[in-house]
Amino acid sequence: MKKIVLDTYQDVCCAAADIYAAQLKTKPNSVLGLATGSTPIGLYEELARRYEAKEIDFSKARSFNLDEYYPIEKSHQQSYDYFMHDNFFSKVNLSKHDIPNGEAKDAIAECKRYDEEIAAAGGIDLMLLGIGHNGHIGFNEPSVSYSMGTYLTELTESSITANARFFGKNEVQPTRALTMGIGEIFRSRQIVLIISGEGKAPIAKKLLEGVIHTDVPACFLLLHPNTTVFLDKAAASLC
Ligand code: F6R
Repeated sequence: MKKIVLDTYQDVCCAAADIYAAQLKTKPNSVLGLATGSTPIGLYEELARRYEAKEIDFSKARSFNLDEYYPIEKSHQQSYDYFMHDNFFSKVNLSKHDIPNGEAKDAIAECKRYDEEIAAAGGIDLMLLGIGHNGHIGFNEPSVSYSMGTYLTELTESSITANARFFGKNEVQPTRALTMGIGEIFRSRQIVLIISGEGKAPIAKKLLEGVIHTDVPACFLLLHPNTTVFLDKAAASLC
C-alpha cells in the first residue's frame, strides 16, 4: 500500500484526479469503481472541471458504484443513485453507469445481477474508496467474516449515526444496504483510497500502522498489490 500525504483536501482530490486521467488515457474504455459520501465530492468536482476543460473523456468508460441503501427509491435525495447523478453523472460524459438497485424487489437477485455485470465488463480497473470511522469500505462493516461478492448487509450503529447528518429529522433512514463485498473490491486492478479530515485521523492511524486488524475491513487493502492511500495533513496527523 502506497501512502501519500498532501497539504489539503483539494491537493488530495487533484492527485486522485491525476490517477483517473492517466487511467483513461491508457485505457479509454476503463471500468471505474465509484464511491459516495462526502469524501469524493471534491474529486468529482475536479473531474467535472477537467471534463469541461476537455482534459478528460469518459465517453468509452463505464462505472459501477460500491453500494446503495436498501430499500430506497432512486428519486430519494439521499439515495446514492441521486447523489451520483447530482454530483457526477450529470456533469460528465459517463453514460454507462451502474449502481446496486435499491428499488429491487429481490435483493439477492439484484446482488447476483450486479456481480454478473461487473464480471461481464471484465472487472474493475480503478476503484475509488472512502473509509468509515469504523474502518468500513463500501458498506463492509467490521465483522468476523467477509463476503466476496455483492450482498445485502445490516449497517452498524456507527455507520447509521455517521450518515444521520444527511437525513432530515422526519425521514426514515435505511438500516441496510447492498454493497460490493471485500472480494469484489479486492479484485480491482488498482485502488485509490481517500482519507480526509481530522475526524478520520484515528482510523487512518490504525490502517497505516501496517497491522491487519480483521475488525477493520480496510486493513485487507494492506494485502492489495496496487493500492494508493491519499491523506490530507489533518487525516495523517496521528500517523
Ligand atoms: C460510500 C461508501 C462508504 C464511504 C464512507 C465514508 O459509497 O462506500 O464506505 O466511503 O462511509 O463516508 P464519508 O466520505 O462521508 O466520510
